[in-house]
Amino acid sequence: MLNPKTDPSGLGSPGESTVHPVEPIALRAAMGAFLTGVTIVTARNERGEPYGLTVNSFNSVSLNPPLVLWSLDLSNDKLDLFRNAGGFTVNIMRADQEELIWLFARAETDRFAKTDWHWGVSGQPVLCNTLLSLECREWAEYPGGDHTIFVGEVVNINASEGAPAAFFKGQLSAHNP
Ligand SMILES: Cc1cc2nc3c(=O)[nH]c(=O)nc-3n(C[C@H](O)[C@H](O)[C@H](O)COP(=O)(O)O)c2cc1C
Repeated sequence: MLNPKTDPSGLGSPGESTVHPVEPIALRAAMGAFLTGVTIVTARNERGEPYGLTVNSFNSVSLNPPLVLWSLDLSNDKLDLFRNAGGFTVNIMRADQEELIWLFARAETDRFAKTDWHWGVSGQPVLCNTLLSLECREWAEYPGGDHTIFVGEVVNINASEGAPAAFFKGQLSAHNP
C-alpha cells in the first residue's frame, strides 16, 4: 500500500503490486534502441560437425578470470548441443558480412557450406575473416527467464581488422570506428 507521507516517490517498495513487468513486445522495442555489435556463436555438435547461430546478446563479464556471456532462447533445439559442447566461439562480425549474419539467423540453412571456417585450438569451430573471435571454455550456465545464459572463459583470441557490424532497431548497419 502506498503512503505519500512515508513514500514521497510514490513508487512503493520493491515487490509491491504497484508495478508490473512490461509486455514482451515493449521490451523488444525498447532494447532495439540499444545499439549492439553482431556475433555468430559457434560450437561443435554431438556428431563432430560445426553449428552456429547469429547472436547479439553477447557481452563481457570479467577480466580476471576472463569471462564473457551470451544467452540462448530456450525454444531453440540446440540447447543440449551447447550444454554438451564444452565451450563455444564468439565470432564478432564485420559490417560487410551482412549476408552471413542473416544466413546464420534463418532456420534450416546450410550455413557452413557457404562459410570459410576451421577448428580452433579449443576444439570449437572458428569462422574465418571475421573482425575477431573469442574461443571459450564452458564456465557456467545461469537461468535467464525464457533464455539461458552461457558464460565462457576465453582461452584464445584471434584478432583481425575491419569495421564492425552494428544492430539497431532491427536493422544491420555499418558503424565506422
Ligand atoms: C541480430 C540478431 C541477433 C540475435 N540474437 C540472438 C540471441 O542473442 N540469442 C538467440 O537465442 N537467438 C538470437 N537470434 C536469433 C537466431 O539467430 C535465430 O533464431 C537462428 O535461426 C537460430 O538458429 P537455428 O535456426 O539453428 O535454431 C538473433 C538473430 C538476429 C538477426
